[in-house]
Amino acid sequence: MNENEKGSMTFIILACLALGAITIAATLKLAPEKERTAKVPSIATEEYGKRLLGQTAELLGPDVSDPKMRFTKSRLSCGACHLGTGTEPGTLGLPPAFGHYPRFSGRTGGQTTIEDRVNECMVRSMNGKPLPKDSPQMIAMAAYIRSLSDQDAATGASQRKAHEPPPFKTPTRAANLDAGKTVFMQHCTACHGTDGAGLLAAANPIHGYVFPPLWGADSFNTGAGMHRVLTAARFIKARMPLGKPDLNDDQAFDVAAFVNSQPRPEMPNLEADYPDRKTKPVDTGYGPFADDFPLEQHRYGPFQPIEAYYKKLTKK
Ligand code: HEC
Ligand code: HEC
Repeated sequence: MNENEKGSMTFIILACLALGAITIAATLKLAPEKERTAKVPSIATEEYGKRLLGQTAELLGPDVSDPKMRFTKSRLSCGACHLGTGTEPGTLGLPPAFGHYPRFSGRTGGQTTIEDRVNECMVRSMNGKPLPKDSPQMIAMAAYIRSLSDQDAATGASQRKAHEPPPFKTPTRAANLDAGKTVFMQHCTACHGTDGAGLLAAANPIHGYVFPPLWGADSFNTGAGMHRVLTAARFIKARMPLGKPDLNDDQAFDVAAFVNSQPRPEMPNLEADYPDRKTKPVDTGYGPFADDFPLEQHRYGPFQPIEAYYKKLTKK
C-alpha cells in the first residue's frame, strides 16, 4: 500500500465508522418511538384487563390526567357490581360471561359481542363513553373476561350449586319506599353512608371509592341494569350487606326500590332501547311499553299482572 492508498483506506474506514455511528444514533433515537408502537398490543394483557375492572376510576375515570383517557363519568369500578373483579361466582359473577356471546340483545335489537356488552356497562353502569373496540383497554378487558371462562370450566357441579343465588320470589305487591328507607337506614348506611354517596378514597379521589355510591352524580345511570328493581333486588339479596347478606325478599325488594327512587344521572335516548317492545323486561323503569300499565307499576310493581299480560300475549 502506498501513502495514497493508505490515505483513502483510512478515509473509507472513518467513513464507515461515521456511518455506523449515525446508524446507531438514529436507531437509539428511534427506539423509544418503535417501542411505543410495539407496546400497544403487549399492554393489552389479561392482567391489565383485571386492573381495568378493579381500578376503573384510576385508569378510565373523570380524574385521569390525560383527557383522552377519561371514558367513564362515574368513579365506580366494574368490580363494585362484579365482585372480586368478576372472579366471584354467583350473582353478577363474570366467570361464565364470555360463553354468552355473541348473542341477541333485546335492548339493542341486534347481535352483541362481548365487546359490545362491555361497552353497554361502560355507557350505562359507568355512565361513560364506549371504548374503541381495537383499543388496548378493550382488548385487555375481553382477554381477561375470556380467561375467567377457564375458571368457569373448572368449576364442579357441587361448587356451582354452592354459589347459586338464594331464591328470590318477587313479592305480589308494589314495593314500599318508606319500608325500603328503613331497611336502608338499618342495613346499608354503615358503608354506603346516610346520603347513599358512599366513601371516596380519602387520600385522592382518583382512586375511586372504598364504598361505592348507590345514587347521585357518581353512580350508575337510569339506563343501567342495576336500575331495574328486580335486578337490584336479586343482587342485594344475594350480596348485600357485603360479606353477610341476610335480607329477606320483602326487605331486598323494598330497599332496591328505595335506592332506585333516588336521583341519578339520566341516560339520553332511552326510548330507542328495545326496538321490539315486547322484549322489554317488566321492571324496565322507562317507556315506551307494549302494554298500558302505568310507568309507576313498571318501576315498583306489582309485577305479576304485567308478567301475566305478556304470557297471554305470547300464547296467542
Ligand atoms: C352498577 C353495577 C355495574 C357496574 C359498575 C358494571 N356492571 Fe357489568 N353488568 C351489570 C349488570 C346488572 C349486568 C347484567 C347481568 C345480567 O344480564 O344478568 C352486567 C353485565 C355485564 C356483562 C355480561 C355478563 C354476562 O354474563 O353476559 C359483562 C361482560 C359486564 N357486565 C362487564 C362489565 C365491565 C367490564 C364493567 C366496567 C367497565 C362493568 N360491567 C360495570 C352491572 C354492572
Ligand atoms: C359492610 C359494608 C357494606 C354494607 C353494610 C352494604 N354494602 Fe353494598 N357494597 C359494599 C361494597 C364494598 C360494594 C362494592 C363491592 C366491592 O368493592 O367489593 C358494594 C356494592 C353495592 C352495590 C353495587 C354498586 C353500586 O354502587 O351501586 C349496591 C347496589 C349495593 N352495594 C347495595 C347495598 C344495599 C342496598 C345495602 C343494605 C342492604 C348494602 N349495599 C350494604 C359494601 C357494603
